[in-house]
Amino acid sequence: MNFKEELELRIKETEQIVLQFIPEEVGYQKTVIEAMNYSLKAGGKRIRPLFMQLVYQLFGATDNEIQPFMAAIEMIHTYSLVHDDLPSMDNDDYRRGKKTTHKVYGEGMAILAGDALLNYAFETALKSFDNGICFERKAKALQILARKAGIFGMIGGQTADIEAENVEQIPIEQLNFIHENKTAALLQAAVMIGAIMAGATDLQISLLEDIGFHIGLAFQIQDDILDVTSSLEQLGKATGSDEKNKKTTYVTIYGILQSKEEVSRHITEANQKILTLPGDKEFLLDLVNSLIYREK
Ligand code: IPE
Ligand code: IPE
Ligand code: MG
Ligand code: MG
Ligand code: MG
Repeated sequence: MNFKEELELRIKETEQIVLQFIPEEVGYQKTVIEAMNYSLKAGGKRIRPLFMQLVYQLFGATDNEIQPFMAAIEMIHTYSLVHDDLPSMDNDDYRRGKKTTHKVYGEGMAILAGDALLNYAFETALKSFDNGICFERKAKALQILARKAGIFGMIGGQTADIEAENVEQIPIEQLNFIHENKTAALLQAAVMIGAIMAGATDLQISLLEDIGFHIGLAFQIQDDILDVTSSLEQLGKATGSDEKNKKTTYVTIYGILQSKEEVSRHITEANQKILTLPGDKEFLLDLVNSLIYREK
């Protein structure tokens, strides 16, 4: 199997794992559950749960204990997108090749679906406690999940992102804060939780935090580039969103060419650190490298 075939297979598997945990659409709360599942089922690259599973397996784990956490991180990520697309935030109409949640279900329901996805992520992760094994690892994984999704992670980054709108040009330090938090934080959570659940040492976990940082920066800089160079058909979301919202991005500060160099630089840093991890790292390295050339 070549990398592309293996990636397709692994994404399909990841998708199946995530969808196992989605709530049933029943009761008077049916509409909000439908709205949650609409965005979750719409697809997406699933790279956060995939990274989590890859790291888990890198450290030698072979069981399914990681699965509730894989679903949880994808739910949190999906909620962040539902809210990010709202009229009061980026005001975007397409996501994952479909109309955005608020376009289909209305704004109130989209806000609730986002809230519900966040809450259900923790309900799902907490399900992992049912079988009574590895309590300590699971508690530590939950701490990371909660912190990286919150004010010292994704929400913190989104806050700074909104406040930077309509400002002529923010300093690169501030933009890096935004990227590190709005995007890298959840990727850090993904790889750190994979390691924690597999019993990695504190040193290894902190190395994975660094790796997640570089993957996240590369990922968001590439997202900034694609917002300018790609198309709705290719991305499944509208391009030109950053210009519309007067955002400072890597592209507005450095231009496309230098931004691409920054993507490569972060990927190289990630690679070097990944090489010091145990286990068979070939697929993980291929996946990280593929992010430099990603078109969607
Ligand atoms: C989009 O994330 C938001 C960013 C952090 C750039 P993804 O590009 O991973 O979105 P999906 O999950 O594939 O839709
Ligand atoms: C959003 O960054 C990151 C999130 C935490 C949702 P963007 O606003 O650039 O993401 P897209 O381009 O809408 O996916
Ligand atoms: Mg945004
Ligand atoms: Mg956006
Ligand atoms: Mg973007």
